[in-house]
Amino acid sequence: MKTPNMIDAKKRHQNKIEYTKYNIDLGNFGEGKKFFVRTYGCQMNEHDSEKIRGMLLSAGFIPCDDIMDADVIILNTCAIRENAHDKVFGFLGVLKHIKQSKDIIIGICGCMAQEEVVINEILNKYKQVDFVCGTHNLDNLLTILKEKIDTNKRQIEVLSYEGDVVENIPVLRESPYSAWVDIIYGCDKFCTYCIVPYTRGMQRSRKHEEIVNEVKELVNKGYKEVTLLGQNVNAYGKDIYDNYTLANLLSDVADTGIERLRFVTSHPWDFTDEMVDVIASRDNVMPYIHLPLQSGSNKILKLMNRRYTKEEYLKLYHQIRDKVKDSSITTDIIVGFPGETEEDFQETLDVVNECKFDGAFTFAFSPRENTPAAKMTDVVSEEIKMDRLHRLNEVVNKYSNEANQKLLNKTVKCLVTSLSEKDKNKVCGYTENMKLVNIVGDKSLIGKIVNVKITDTKSFSLDGEYVD
Ligand code: SAH
Ligand code: SF4
Ligand code: F3S
Repeated sequence: MKTPNMIDAKKRHQNKIEYTKYNIDLGNFGEGKKFFVRTYGCQMNEHDSEKIRGMLLSAGFIPCDDIMDADVIILNTCAIRENAHDKVFGFLGVLKHIKQSKDIIIGICGCMAQEEVVINEILNKYKQVDFVCGTHNLDNLLTILKEKIDTNKRQIEVLSYEGDVVENIPVLRESPYSAWVDIIYGCDKFCTYCIVPYTRGMQRSRKHEEIVNEVKELVNKGYKEVTLLGQNVNAYGKDIYDNYTLANLLSDVADTGIERLRFVTSHPWDFTDEMVDVIASRDNVMPYIHLPLQSGSNKILKLMNRRYTKEEYLKLYHQIRDKVKDSSITTDIIVGFPGETEEDFQETLDVVNECKFDGAFTFAFSPRENTPAAKMTDVVSEEIKMDRLHRLNEVVNKYSNEANQKLLNKTVKCLVTSLSEKDKNKVCGYTENMKLVNIVGDKSLIGKIVNVKITDTKSFSLDGEYVD
């Protein structure tokens, strides 16, 4: 049994990171068994789930959509806020019931697996969990699962130090048109509220040749869109190259001919002029930037250790708006960080009123175990947090509505990805600006980039019709 330790996690890896290739072959030990994976959290976790599915498939397991059919159930978890925890523990209760009537194996992967408190809780209270595999040794999943099956003993294997950068892990991708590609793992920013640097470890970039080759293969397979992933993609390359940055990578990946290239998430601190120029100049780099603000108050930004001021954020914001034609910019904002006064919150509203974001993900501060902000004493009451969140959302929604309304009667390009969830006679897709459109049109459009005339707009989506 290997359990995690947050103090070790903060100290980071003591050795050099190795670059290795996946080479686990334990035979077809999953033959005849079905699996189900549920994912919580960010796109990186969604992509990790594609790797979990790929590895299981490589051992003979087959995927199923109905949890009641599954022999192996894996929860790929998120630790970013307390409600992410609550959802997982709630679901483990449901699984306990299923396990009483059926022989199933339950596994936990992802960021919650990296937390000491969570592992202690699982050890003491959640006996239904059969194995835990951390984020640093995800490539070892099959070994852990096979050990569980062979010995029938619970397996807990979580490392506090980051593992190697492992290439060629099998992946079973969700979409045949739009793919996620990791470019950098971990995060070294240590924003004081955030648990990610502890659960995902130190920044480790993949080699640019590996990334470009992966995208070339995707282009050959007919993929239309690639999203480059990292907790902070703008730090790409800093750990392994003297002179090769995200700007170089975007340019090299754009050269593969992929029709749409995206990237998330950008930290404003690492955003260079070269990056703005590449986004502005390359037609296949999509004009959509997610640029987390977190707060509009310099006092709070400093307490958050965000490393930029409101003025620097606004300068970058306007530089992007000026240079990148028809860009859309979204953001993340936290309210109720310790010490946030009504005046600080007003400053956040001021920035939102100036930037008129296309959209924003807004959160109430949630203290995370062992992070510096969790120890800050000047806490904001839940009532005030909720009130600020509500007021912020009103302003944010007003601007996303306005941004959407600007598209009314315009014809835009959409990558159609699936049938519409709400109306099976429609399909849905995303504009270049990453706006969701429900489109009148039949399913033969799925997988294509088509022209769509926008006929109606809402806060969170658009309606449109296919035009030839
Ligand atoms: N790497 C990304 C953020 C990943 S987490 C970045 O730096 O922008 C996504 C968002 O969750 C963050 O931008 C932040 O707004 C929010 N978040 C992170 N930790 C949080 C916490 N403890 N409480 C509330 N929101 C939090
Ligand atoms: Fe968390 Fe900050 Fe890293 Fe984003 S940049 S993952 S918010 S520590
Ligand atoms: Fe959550 Fe981990 Fe992503 S904490 S947001 S799953 S990196």
